[in-house]
Amino acid sequence: MTFKRSDLPRDFLFGAATSAYQIEGQSFGGAGPCIWDSYAATPDNVIRNEHGAIACDHYHRFEEDLDLVANGHFDAYRFSTNWSRILPEGRGTVNQEGLDFYDRLVDAQLARGLRPFLTLYHWELPSALQDVGGWTNPDIADWFADYARIVMQRIGDRVSHTATINEPICVSWIGHFIGRHAPGHRDIRDTARAMHHVLKAHGRAVSALRSDGYGDMGIVINVTHYEPVDDSRQAAIANDRADAIFNRWFLQGVFKGSYPDVALEGLGPHMPRGWEADMAEIAQPVDWLGMNYYFRTLTGPADDAWPALQHHDGDLPKTQMGWEISPEGFYKELTRCARDFSGDVPIYVTENGMANADALADGAVEDTIRTRYLDDHIGAVIRAERDGVPLKGYFAWSLLDNYEWAFGYERRFGLVHVDFDTQTRTPKASYRALRAALQRN
Ligand code: NOJ
Repeated sequence: MTFKRSDLPRDFLFGAATSAYQIEGQSFGGAGPCIWDSYAATPDNVIRNEHGAIACDHYHRFEEDLDLVANGHFDAYRFSTNWSRILPEGRGTVNQEGLDFYDRLVDAQLARGLRPFLTLYHWELPSALQDVGGWTNPDIADWFADYARIVMQRIGDRVSHTATINEPICVSWIGHFIGRHAPGHRDIRDTARAMHHVLKAHGRAVSALRSDGYGDMGIVINVTHYEPVDDSRQAAIANDRADAIFNRWFLQGVFKGSYPDVALEGLGPHMPRGWEADMAEIAQPVDWLGMNYYFRTLTGPADDAWPALQHHDGDLPKTQMGWEISPEGFYKELTRCARDFSGDVPIYVTENGMANADALADGAVEDTIRTRYLDDHIGAVIRAERDGVPLKGYFAWSLLDNYEWAFGYERRFGLVHVDFDTQTRTPKASYRALRAALQRN
């Protein structure tokens, strides 16, 4: 690693990130069924039909996993609570065992001097709520706020920062339009509703938690760097449409209280009645913004129904996901975000990292390519911070190899290798490089 802690402000935090379903083991501790269980159990959705029943067995191994965070000289840990673990039916009866788990998890972080960064929703919608429409039902705003209150009553006194929703585009568009995430719908009407309700739920939870006296509330939005595939006017228009749907819908919604016109061209006719009245609650001030960034994509027009766009292969090096590596795109998105949307609101990079076909050889994983990726992207953070973006922290995705959703266990994002047969953890070379850089200063 070439970066130094002193390249960033003294209070800048480095962390590692995970999420509940991807690591905990859904079959333990009284969790109810969630939409990822049924999505994964449907043929052709997930590679080898893999699911999160055991995952990294983090439910039983969290002490060991938090030792890895602390020994890596990280300052903070980003984790999520699992709605279906806390409320197996989505509403009503609380699974105390689930709440007890998160209580222990937070105390174990504090005992190691780690700052807990909580995400309330990282995609485990209880199946009972999907049965009544899930994200297409406007009542989900209240269901989510009620769940958020239950979590915060138990651990809100000890968490450092709280995010409502992780990656709303994945919840809404990928889950309801593309169908590559649970619940696997392919319906534009469901999509428009989910795109709106996911932000409505964010706003409603922030209102509820503020009235309960909590602060440090934010949301985690993933931003992709879109570039037109060529110099044509059609490519520019298609590219702008992609940016509007996938990036600006959420940034503009949360920070300006409106949606981009070019996105409404397609989604407008399908929006829930009276949606405009929700925008004030959606755009109430947040205390911080979480940004997840991974890659750049070249985009051009497609001879297809709206949104009539397609992505093209670019010439930058790619990760195991096929994602183009572009720290420059990261710099551009960080600066654009602060300039056009979030202004002075502190930004934490809540996820950044890469999948690689890592293999253990002689008990070690030499993932030099990941070390380079992280170093280059931290370099973009340093540059953006110097140029005035109020960056306050950086979390690597992910602490552990884990359940990469529709890609199952095949795509390894971890700083720490996991053998899913034995649950043995082996820190990779990238973990050691990051630890050395964080320790050095
Ligand atoms: C973003 C998601 O929040 C996380 O769950 C996922 O594993 C990473 N991206 C990598 O795709």
